[in-house]
Amino acid sequence: MKKYGFLYLFFIFYDVKIVYTQFMRLDRFLCETAAFSRSEAKAYIKGGRVTVDGIIVRSGDVKVDPDKSIISFDGIDLKYEQFVYFMLNKPAGFVSATKDAGKTVIDLLKSENRDDLFPVGRLDKDTTGLLIITNDGDLGHHLTSPKHGILKKYLVKIAHSLSEADTSALSEGLDIGNGERSDKATVEVISDDYVYITVSEGKFHEIKRMLKAVGNEVLELKRVSMGGVALDESLKEGEYRRLLPSEIERLNEHV
Ligand code: URA
Repeated sequence: MKKYGFLYLFFIFYDVKIVYTQFMRLDRFLCETAAFSRSEAKAYIKGGRVTVDGIIVRSGDVKVDPDKSIISFDGIDLKYEQFVYFMLNKPAGFVSATKDAGKTVIDLLKSENRDDLFPVGRLDKDTTGLLIITNDGDLGHHLTSPKHGILKKYLVKIAHSLSEADTSALSEGLDIGNGERSDKATVEVISDDYVYITVSEGKFHEIKRMLKAVGNEVLELKRVSMGGVALDESLKEGEYRRLLPSEIERLNEHV
């Protein structure tokens, strides 16, 4: 029996860990489901407006099970969503990261009161357009992993018009410096100034380096779709909305 003491302790610990990860603080639950700030949530709880399984609870640090406890605010049951998905029309000047010395894309979703959101992939600070923001790590991983070849379409404002030779070099793939080649791409010339380029990889500064490789320059860059989900053009830069169930489904087809 003594011999298995370590194993026994491991299972006890494992069990405790599972139980612990299921529970969350009541005030955090309220922030994430009803988009209250932490101080609002605390005040509402203290004021007796929140019940857990029918009983008024006046302390925000009570642990609740988001899947099993029935939590109501002013008599209305709140539903916890484990995973949330947003599309943001990223403005220039924001870094695609969760933390940075400067402004991050996550700052734009502050009112969601979720501390587990992250951007799916990166857009350069000066790039605008579609950025998916979620807390679903598996989906994020699949959409950014190079082996899945998720298509990303960009609207590119260029400095000079593209020749036919440029277009075919960009489409075929070319040396983009640092010992890297771009993969095949789809190039749709719109005018002398604008072109759509669709790529399946996510190399650092890829579109800018591709254009540079044909002696051109990117003046403006905007992502218009990713993984079959198009940017909702009714979103102004800096605005975001929830992904529709059909859009989430489309993204999950890649998983
Ligand atoms: N390619 C770039 O050069 N920049 C981006 O932000 C995205 C793709």
